[in-house]
Amino acid sequence: MTDEMRIQVMRGGPYVVSGGVPLKEMAPVRTLNDEPVAWHELREFDESRDMYALCRCGRSNDKPYCDGSHANGEWPEAETADRGPMAARAGRVEGPAGVMLDDESLCIGAGFCGTRTANAWDLMGEEGGDARERVADMAAMCPSGRLALLAREGEAPVEPELPREIGVVPGGPLWVRGGIPVESADGAPWEALNRRTLCRCGASAAKPFCDGAHGDLHFDER
Ligand code: FES
Repeated sequence: MTDEMRIQVMRGGPYVVSGGVPLKEMAPVRTLNDEPVAWHELREFDESRDMYALCRCGRSNDKPYCDGSHANGEWPEAETADRGPMAARAGRVEGPAGVMLDDESLCIGAGFCGTRTANAWDLMGEEGGDARERVADMAAMCPSGRLALLAREGEAPVEPELPREIGVVPGGPLWVRGGIPVESADGAPWEALNRRTLCRCGASAAKPFCDGAHGDLHFDER
C-alpha cells in the first residue's frame, strides 16, 4: 500500500485514487420542505484495493468506477478551474459572527447555506444568539467548500474534522473529504481544501471541480 492518499486527474481519462481511500455513497438528508440539513451514509463500497479509478467523463457503465468508456470519442476533459487559492478569490461577508469567505466559483448548488427562514448571508449580520454556530454548521455541511467561516481575517477557517474519504453523491459529484490532495493531469497540485467536489458527469465548465452542471443534465447514475 502507498502511504499517501491522493487523487490524480488523468489526461482524457479518470481520477486515479491511491493510498487506500475509503469510498462511500453519501446523500443529503432533506426536510419535508426539501431543505438539505445533514448527510447520510448510504453504503460503503467494498473497496480493498490500494488504487482504483473513478469515472470522470460520465459515460462509464460501471459508475462510480471507470470502465474505459472515456476512450469512446471526444469529451471536454480540460481542467479549466481557476488555479489560485480560494481565499484570494472569495468575497468577504463581515459581521458579528466573524468573516465568511464566499467563493461562488466553487458552488454546486447543494443548498446547505439556507432554509426557508434563514441563510448564511443574513445570519452573518445578526448580533448574538446562535448565528455564528449556524453559519459554521452551514459552511461545514457545504460539500464544495464555497463557504468558510473565520473568527477574523487572516485566521484559519473553522473547519469540521472530516475523515479522509470520498463520498459518491447520487446524481452528483465526488465529495473529497478531509483534504486529500488532488493533482492535475499536468502534475500541478490543486489547492487542498477540507471539502472539495470533483465533477463526475463530464459537463462541468470548471473541471476538475463540479459546478452544478449535473443538475441541468439530470445526470444519470446508471
Ligand atoms: S458532477 Fe459534473 S458538474 Fe457536478
